[in-house]
Amino acid sequence: MPVELHRDWIPVALSADLPAATVVPAHTPSGILALWRSESGKLTALADRCPHRGMRLSYGFVRGEALSCIYHGWSYGRTGQCQRIPAHPDLTPPAAIKAASYATEERNGVIWIAQNEPQEPPPTLDGFKPLRSMPLAVDADRLSPTGEVRTEFAGIDMLLLIVATGNGEAVAHIMIAASASKDDCVAASRAAEGWRRDCERLALEDRAS
Ligand code: FES
Repeated sequence: MPVELHRDWIPVALSADLPAATVVPAHTPSGILALWRSESGKLTALADRCPHRGMRLSYGFVRGEALSCIYHGWSYGRTGQCQRIPAHPDLTPPAAIKAASYATEERNGVIWIAQNEPQEPPPTLDGFKPLRSMPLAVDADRLSPTGEVRTEFAGIDMLLLIVATGNGEAVAHIMIAASASKDDCVAASRAAEGWRRDCERLALEDRAS
């Protein structure tokens, strides 16, 4: 089923780029979320703003099953609820201290986030496997109004999941045919860089004309 029919879900990262006990900024059309994986491997997406003084939670660090803010160390669980305030170790943090959390799903090596109530799971993208994610200085609509590009790189079938990230920029999460060999992946990855250069050059020329 085409990706554009799954607008409830936004592809934000490839699983391989988020090992256990790490946090990354997840780019979505409406801003950045803090996407983290606990030490036991569970995924969580939280608003990228600490409820204490607004530091980006994506700058924080993961310890065990919690994400800690880099500024004063307040830590948050998978629901976004504050679990611990280091300056007041005996205090149970009030329920109101909570970061907004979002549904996440991981399918076929792609991590998806839902910012509303999803009606169905994200697509499985059968026949493809993840290759790499690539930022581009190109407006997402220019690349694909549907959020999906089917093409060939180095003669290999590719599926590009395009996400707008604001300011005329985008991220492409690149999937390659599941049958691709290691050498195919290297060739397709190089071809993808050439595709990015071409897209960015054309966008620049259009802006200048
Ligand atoms: S701003 Fe995050 S703990 Fe203070």
